[in-house]
Amino acid sequence: VPLENERYDYLFKVVVVGDSGVGKTSLIQQLCFERFANDQKSTIGVEFNSKSLLVDSKQVKIQLWDTAGQERFRSVAPSYYRGSLGAVITYDTTYAKSFEQIQFWLNSLNQHCPAAKILVIGNKSDLVDLRAVPVEVAREFAEQEDLVLVEASAKDLSSVEFAFNKLVSVIL
Ligand code: GTP
Repeated sequence: VPLENERYDYLFKVVVVGDSGVGKTSLIQQLCFERFANDQKSTIGVEFNSKSLLVDSKQVKIQLWDTAGQERFRSVAPSYYRGSLGAVITYDTTYAKSFEQIQFWLNSLNQHCPAAKILVIGNKSDLVDLRAVPVEVAREFAEQEDLVLVEASAKDLSSVEFAFNKLVSVIL
């Protein structure tokens, strides 16, 4: 049943990738339902959610494809990229390996959906004492690769909305 609030000017598919445990599902749950779970379970395959955002006075509905980060699902992931206008590469600011893995996800996106606009989210910014990736290092990498980078915490709605609004404004 179409609802009054489901009117939108644009519908964008956005695929969310990144290593297992970086917080992809948590970011999406915060954006779409304003909730956070400490015991968020690992995604199997892919999950879908959507969210309407008002950006540059346009009502934009983003269809979020929340992919599984686990190694055993990597071979199927590329089939989820098709038709994506946007992509979010997520890493965990407290785990350096997940930051190094950005290159892997970039290669994968460039291969399977080269037209998608990419946003990098450095997640878990609330865990200040555990930080392993300095923000300057992340910014320098993003600049070199010509990527938009935002740090966020899946516990903090405003940081998550800021990040996804940024991606939408880049796509628009
Ligand atoms: P896969 O589905 O395996 O690819 O993992 P994922 O990237 O979807 O990670 P998920 O959202 O399942 O989060 C993994 C763990 O990190 C969970 O225990 C979350 O509660 C926790 N977590 C996610 N985001 C944050 C955050 O911003 N801050 C903190 N403190 N914990 C977070």
